[in-house]
Amino acid sequence: MTENTYYIEKLKQLIEEKSIEAGRRLTACTVTFGCQMNARDSEKLTGILRESGFELTESENADFVIFNTCTVRDNADQRTFGHLGRISHLKKKNPLMKVAVCGCMMQEKGNVEKIKKSYPFVDLVFGTHNLYRFAEYLWEVYSTDQKVREIWDKTDSIVEDLPIERKYPFKSGINIMFGCDNFCSYCIVPYVRGRERSREPGEIIRETEALARDGVSEVMLLGQNVNSYGKGLEDPISFAELLDEVCKVDGIRRVRFMTPHPKDLSYDLIRAVRDNPKAARHIHLPLQSGSDRILKRMNRHYTKERFIELAQKIREEIPDVSITTDIIVGFPGETPEDVDDTIDVIERVGFDNAYTFIYSKRRGTPAAAMEDQVPADVVKAGFDRVLAAVQKSARERAQLLQGRVMEALVEEVNAQKEGYVTGRLSTNMVVHVPGDASMIGSYVPVLLEECRGFYYFGKIV
Ligand code: 5AD
Ligand code: SF4
Repeated sequence: MTENTYYIEKLKQLIEEKSIEAGRRLTACTVTFGCQMNARDSEKLTGILRESGFELTESENADFVIFNTCTVRDNADQRTFGHLGRISHLKKKNPLMKVAVCGCMMQEKGNVEKIKKSYPFVDLVFGTHNLYRFAEYLWEVYSTDQKVREIWDKTDSIVEDLPIERKYPFKSGINIMFGCDNFCSYCIVPYVRGRERSREPGEIIRETEALARDGVSEVMLLGQNVNSYGKGLEDPISFAELLDEVCKVDGIRRVRFMTPHPKDLSYDLIRAVRDNPKAARHIHLPLQSGSDRILKRMNRHYTKERFIELAQKIREEIPDVSITTDIIVGFPGETPEDVDDTIDVIERVGFDNAYTFIYSKRRGTPAAAMEDQVPADVVKAGFDRVLAAVQKSARERAQLLQGRVMEALVEEVNAQKEGYVTGRLSTNMVVHVPGDASMIGSYVPVLLEECRGFYYFGKIV
């Protein structure tokens, strides 16, 4: 019996007793902010809650609510505080209610202090490194009625085999590595997620096989910097090799990955995607800035021309590939000329889509100490120009698919348009087609009829 199953067994009895006392099954809700990593972590939290006997709900008006937080930009922090403010009212009305906060934001001292002071009703606080101890903390909270707050500065271990409650039956994320060693000067991730650690390839394949047996056909390999996967393992293996191995698993039809770093995206990886029909025709390649001067200050280790070359190589080698990116506007010292460079890259690469962010100052990062922070109105003007360029590029790229037939994985019923379902192409493009819930999880050939900017309306042929 692992430590986790030990605590889950104990919890089960306790939650059962409390449910009987309450005259109803205790409910639990997991609220997730941030990236795919956090989404996967939340599936682990929710798995433990389900195994412990809670009834899962989407409503924050539950007996147990856990917020899995993000701190990559300030607005993520503010959203968590907003939710906590609202939940205090619900907690006053429900004496059984317990509230937990975990995730990246809790790895920052100031935030934990703020929770203690401004949201003293929070029952449980833990961080990213001790997430695997959740069952134990939950047991402590429920068996003692005391508050539990435990944050670790770091961890070396990777804990396998936590119970997992998947959000989608047909697709799943798979962690291949944790942490990041890149220290881009604006980014807080290396501080809150710790040093890079790769999972053993055997464990990753075992998990992929188990998912495939359970009906999953699309997986996304998750890491902050997937290209450096395998470093430090006893038998080093490259990410391209891992991708090949994952693609070999029977029952898996699509393999995605997130996120590669342009500085070490190898031609081997480009070839691995090209030669592997199961590898999705989509590469998310964060640019951040198109200005060499800014890239240097960001500590990104590539130049504008190197990035463009890489993108061109990807397009040459992989027909129909989509390339998406992340862009930051307003990094300290950025001038309108630097923004021109970013726009030049957008135009020359022709991104299929891009997430554009306004630079957010993160405490403790080197960029936060830079003196030439950009005034808000200058940032706004640059942001609007970048956004317009991204939208133009995305439209032009989407239009190229007009009239083509491509395979879509049907993911959900379309909530806005009755009688329609929403699917995703291998390129990550969204397409809406007539259909019903029975089609969810199936792959269908779709004629892309009507382009609406970033997505299509089509029909199954
Ligand atoms: N401000 C704005 N955007 C940021 N990102 C990371 N840190 C910051 C920050 N301090 C963006 C980067 C990254 C994405 C996940 O978030 O573009 O690729
Ligand atoms: Fe942050 Fe850079 Fe690591 Fe990405 S690669 S998580 S942007 S430090």
